[in-house]
Amino acid sequence: MHQLLSVKTGRGMLSRSVLSVWPQTLWMKSLGSNLMNSGSRRSTKTLSSDWMSELSATMRIFPDFITPQEEESLFQEIEPYLKRLRYESSHWDNAIQSYRETEKSTWNKGNSAVIQKIQKTAFPPDTSLLGHVHVLDLAGDGMIKPHVDSVRFCGDTIAGLSLLSDSVMRLTMVGYEKECFKDYLLLQRSLYVMSGAARYKYNHEILGPDESTFEGNKIPRSRRISVICRCDPKHID
Ligand code: OGA
Ligand code: MN
Repeated sequence: MHQLLSVKTGRGMLSRSVLSVWPQTLWMKSLGSNLMNSGSRRSTKTLSSDWMSELSATMRIFPDFITPQEEESLFQEIEPYLKRLRYESSHWDNAIQSYRETEKSTWNKGNSAVIQKIQKTAFPPDTSLLGHVHVLDLAGDGMIKPHVDSVRFCGDTIAGLSLLSDSVMRLTMVGYEKECFKDYLLLQRSLYVMSGAARYKYNHEILGPDESTFEGNKIPRSRRISVICRCDPKHID
């Protein structure tokens, strides 16, 4: 069940869908999995032995996807919206901590070209994309707990560009979180493209500053902005 709400974000009012039963933050609409995850494990379910190759094929990382100049230009366009907002945490279960966010559907010429490059890289031609780009700002102490983006609001592919800070994204297979997982280093200015199995069968999370290590090395976290492009869900209830 969802309803259309108008919420205040940055400059003026945006219209958006949110789940009506939860506290209504923008980020909520990308959630879905914590509920799906809560079922007991089925012991009869056998794990595919090549889960790792399936995961590797569906979670792609493009380091240095943009230049420092392009990063700065995106930041300059985004920052006036974000800085009017306060960092907050999702209220119902702290699933996301120390964040603020906005949706943006128009960009200046140079930044539009970057957004188009993301879309061209991530989505097959003729994919129906969401009309807005999601901009998520995590403070240095912020984190995103494991979740799968709701199939109600997001299609097969999620593409995220990381600005300002490196971070670590952990993918854990739904129902087999302890057995099948992999960490990904999201360097500043890299793009990740998560589709198919990685998008539907795995939770994703952004590790908080205390957990932020990769292959034994501490990955210092500071403020991180992600610019996330999504496509339309295939079926709408
Ligand atoms: C989300 C999410 C990851 C990121 O907003 O649902 O998982 O890269 N974001 O910020
Ligand atoms: Mn997500």
